[in-house]
Amino acid sequence: MIGSKETRECIIVDPLLDIDFVIDEAKIESSYKIVSVIDTHTHADHISGARNLVKRFNLQGVGMYANSGSKFKTIPMTDGQILRLGDIELRFIHTPGHTTDHMCVLVDNSKLLTGDTILIGDVGRIDLGGDPRKNSDILYESLHNKLLTLDDNVEIFPLHIGAAHHLGETNTSSTIGKERTKNLALKPKNKEEFFKYMTEDWPPKPPDYQNIIKVNRGETSIEII
Ligand SMILES: [Fe+2]
Repeated sequence: MIGSKETRECIIVDPLLDIDFVIDEAKIESSYKIVSVIDTHTHADHISGARNLVKRFNLQGVGMYANSGSKFKTIPMTDGQILRLGDIELRFIHTPGHTTDHMCVLVDNSKLLTGDTILIGDVGRIDLGGDPRKNSDILYESLHNKLLTLDDNVEIFPLHIGAAHHLGETNTSSTIGKERTKNLALKPKNKEEFFKYMTEDWPPKPPDYQNIIKVNRGETSIEII
């Protein structure tokens, strides 16, 4: 949740399906009014609650990167686009690789919601759709040409706490500087080394991930078991 203390409005990013939890947090914790909802990418490991928030609050649509291909009502975002929320500035950074439609959200140049691009100690996997080698090369570029150009003191908030090569992490945030020195996925010096890293010692893919992607794109409404 990104909230403006000035306007008491907030934007929800990457909500899970239990939107009542999100709504309670916004209302009870801080008396914020939900005015927008964003998915950083088409998720493959859980069904997004974003469209349910759109319905509940009669919002214009889910903010997603322009190439998401979602059949739901979306507000297409572009690389470098800036959105204002009261006194807060949000900048969207297209960071494909984990998915082609992945974007990160930079808040006031100081906090970065990284989705599944950078996790603490690792990065998001590249084998959930498309050509893994191509995805790996693109992710390498997103990491090194975009996110690692940010200042070391930018705080990052990933979507997942755990990561494949960095289990047991309990912190929910880190910084670009800490990840630059410690993150294993940022050690490889070129795309070949990175692809090797990205295809070794990964856990199995999320069960039923292909159907989860279809549900999140609005291509099917089948129940996920
Ligand atoms: Fe993901």
